[in-house]
Amino acid sequence: MSNEAPPSYETQSLRDFAEVIRGRRTINLYLQTPVPRELVREAIEAATWAPNHHVTEPWHFYLLGSETIERCLDLCYEIVTAKKAPDAGKFKREQWSEKPGWLVVTCRRSDDDLLQREDYAACAAALQNLMLYLWKAGIGSKWTTGDITRDSRFFDIVGIDESEEVVVGMLWYGYPKITPAQKRKGLDEVLSELP
Ligand SMILES: Cc1cc2nc3c(=O)[nH]c(=O)nc-3n(C[C@H](O)[C@H](O)[C@H](O)COP(=O)(O)O)c2cc1C
Repeated sequence: MSNEAPPSYETQSLRDFAEVIRGRRTINLYLQTPVPRELVREAIEAATWAPNHHVTEPWHFYLLGSETIERCLDLCYEIVTAKKAPDAGKFKREQWSEKPGWLVVTCRRSDDDLLQREDYAACAAALQNLMLYLWKAGIGSKWTTGDITRDSRFFDIVGIDESEEVVVGMLWYGYPKITPAQKRKGLDEVLSELP
């Protein structure tokens, strides 16, 4: 066994990496600057390098085009109108129509509880990879699990087989118009170091 000192970790590249992780924010308001499709495809490819138990690769990514987005907007209007009122439906539809990019991430279903949990965890890790990759490229995103992501009409529109896959999240993405601030608990509040 060697007693050599570990390599220095106080590098600029590690600080930069940490800054990407810390700096990423959920973005609600976007510029309408188009996001290069190839960049999104590269982000999805990078996302799939997430850890996944038994290398099940349980994820699938649905990159929505303008026709599909229009249908989702109509569904958004219907859902909110049924729950609240047409005014609210129209308002939400308009808000959502400002989201430049739409991506749906699913996880395969399993009858085995443990496998389902592990697969879901892997998909969440993949989504975080994806958001960080985009953030490093200057693109913000928002992971949402709103009502629409559990609506069977949404599954039909996107072409997801509900008996085979669950939606882990819908990801809106685009260049941020406003980047909000966020806070986190201090390390002492979340870490227990044991003897
Ligand atoms: C599984 C998951 C589901 C989320 N669903 C929603 C949602 O439905 N609506 C929403 O406004 N934000 C949603 N978010 C985003 C969180 O609100 C956001 O991450 C949180 O406010 C912290 O902000 P930050 O991402 O900028 O750190 C979701 C995040 C995760 C991880």
